[in-house]
Amino acid sequence: MRFGVLTSGGDAPGMNAALRAVVRTAIHYGHHIYGIKNGYQGLIENDMVLLLREDVSGMLTKGGTFLGTARSKDFLKLEVRELAIRNLQKRNIDALIVIGGDGTFRGAQALIEMGVNVIAIPATIDNDLGGTDFTIGFNTALNTIVEGIDKLRDTSSSHQRCSIIETMGREGGDLAIYAGICGGAEFIITKQHSVDKDKMIQTLAQWKKEGRRQAIIVATENIFNVHDLAEEITQKSGFATRATVLGYIQRGGAPVPQDRVLATQLGVYAVELAMEGIYGVGVGVRQETLVNAKVVDILSEVDDRSPLYELVDKVS
Ligand code: F6P
Repeated sequence: MRFGVLTSGGDAPGMNAALRAVVRTAIHYGHHIYGIKNGYQGLIENDMVLLLREDVSGMLTKGGTFLGTARSKDFLKLEVRELAIRNLQKRNIDALIVIGGDGTFRGAQALIEMGVNVIAIPATIDNDLGGTDFTIGFNTALNTIVEGIDKLRDTSSSHQRCSIIETMGREGGDLAIYAGICGGAEFIITKQHSVDKDKMIQTLAQWKKEGRRQAIIVATENIFNVHDLAEEITQKSGFATRATVLGYIQRGGAPVPQDRVLATQLGVYAVELAMEGIYGVGVGVRQETLVNAKVVDILSEVDDRSPLYELVDKVS
């Protein structure tokens, strides 16, 4: 068989480990595999190279993606996807493995509907895709955030301040909710777990009066302007507050062991599914079992996974 593999969308730690697993497994079974550069953009531009076993040496531990990634707006156009498909056909590529988040899965679905044999591997720090308990990269980003919260707690308590930490996650709240629980946050604000701002400020004012030395608020991006919120809390509650936006730091770094294992499991599984002729699916691990589901179903699955939301109010 001839495989193509690409990484697309926001990079996630463990993408390289997944590439390594895909490339090595394909070669292990005697197949050829092309690495497509910069996501779907490389498919459009016919920017692909035949990969060898040694091309992925050392990739298990490296953050980012050695193939490069992009968010290709052009790929939304039908004529552009037709060009991409012609590029796959020119090289007789039978199976395309895409690694990325929801945008990547939507691109995969568009190709599936045009008859391409695609398998999608979930890799995004946001953990906002159905079909798997965890996406590749989530646990590494979580570790980075928790490390940040622990450090901010040191300085907040020394200065008797409140700290707001803004996490990534787009619409998904998993990074904030998991990190907030790990970091012992007093308030966790996500789209799925909203907090009444005025009540929160009243509580902080009360805590300040009672002599609490510090408070931690973890919030998902795009809900508040956290710097304005810090100013408002300071003014109204008397609790001096500072905001920290962790930003792209969350996307970098060597993948933690869970992400290396997950990436390896899913990479091997994706190649083996293709060899069985199973396409149009996304792979995942649910309750420690490898699973696959139609990409179209994964995209329509409602994210109702986090029972952790119920814990937050009880322990904060
Ligand atoms: O999807 C991953 C992610 O890091 C989100 O958490 C964030 O909202 C977005 O990508 C940022 O995208 P960009 O890299 O295009 O700025």
